[in-house]
Amino acid sequence: MQLKDQQVVIIGGSSGIGLATAQLAQAEGARVTITGRSEEKLRRVANTLGTVKTAIADVTNEKDLQQVFEACDRVDHLVLLGASLASGKICDAALEDLSRPITERLWGAIHTIRAAAPKMSNGSITLTSGLFSARPIAGMAVVAAAVGGIEAMTRALALELAPIRINAIAPGYIDTPLLRAAFEDQYEGVVKAQSAVLPTQRIGTAEETAKAILFLMTSGFITGEILHIDGGGRLI
Ligand SMILES: NC(=O)c1ccc[n+]([C@@H]2O[C@H](COP(=O)([O-])OP(=O)(O)OC[C@H]3O[C@@H](n4cnc5c(N)ncnc54)[C@H](OP(=O)(O)O)[C@@H]3O)[C@@H](O)[C@H]2O)c1
Repeated sequence: MQLKDQQVVIIGGSSGIGLATAQLAQAEGARVTITGRSEEKLRRVANTLGTVKTAIADVTNEKDLQQVFEACDRVDHLVLLGASLASGKICDAALEDLSRPITERLWGAIHTIRAAAPKMSNGSITLTSGLFSARPIAGMAVVAAAVGGIEAMTRALALELAPIRINAIAPGYIDTPLLRAAFEDQYEGVVKAQSAVLPTQRIGTAEETAKAILFLMTSGFITGEILHIDGGGRLI
């Protein structure tokens, strides 16, 4: 149990991949703090997971994040997942929707790491990229730019923040509330279409993605790495 009594903070831990990561880390003996914007979602998870700590924080709000980490005596592992999938075509979408991926993903990472780093002396930070960095689709140019930026930032921060290890996951299509909400009534069709073309013949689960995060957390000789959990999605 490498995570026994380790302090794990999961930004965006009340749903999907973050929630699955909280469950696995807790099962490995970690002391877990999860954050999100919705108090109701956090309360529901706390009722299920029991000993987990919760804090309300929006990654776009620097003060929220400072408060989260001020309340921690130390942080061993930080996982940053919290973001929406807002975007749109560059010439059509409102500027607010186009700036959101940058604000949430790049500025969110900057605010979070600046707030967390003073509480970390070692351990790991896991950031979140995504399949759109390597295999974009129309309407997701800004999300692609933001997650591509996260990959570049991961490698640079692995040098800048050493000996803290910095890695990123790059998930493909993963069955979570975010994916279901993004495709709404087309969700089943998207799953069927992806299952027909992916080498794995199915999309991924939150638990599989969480296992990849725990692998990065506990692999002491891996830093600056981007781990693809995409069923081979970037190869097709
Ligand atoms: N699922 C996929 O197929 C997939 C693929 C590639 C990348 N990803 C990325 O993986 C991450 C997690 O995705 P998921 O599928 O697990 O999504 P999810 O089920 O919607 O969970 C997202 C979590 O982040 C929180 N969150 C969202 N926006 C936030 C913000 N502005 N500030 C703070 N917390 C925020 C949510 O809680 P609140 O709503 O209460 O804030 C929730 O706890 C996201 O960055 C997503 O883009 C997912």
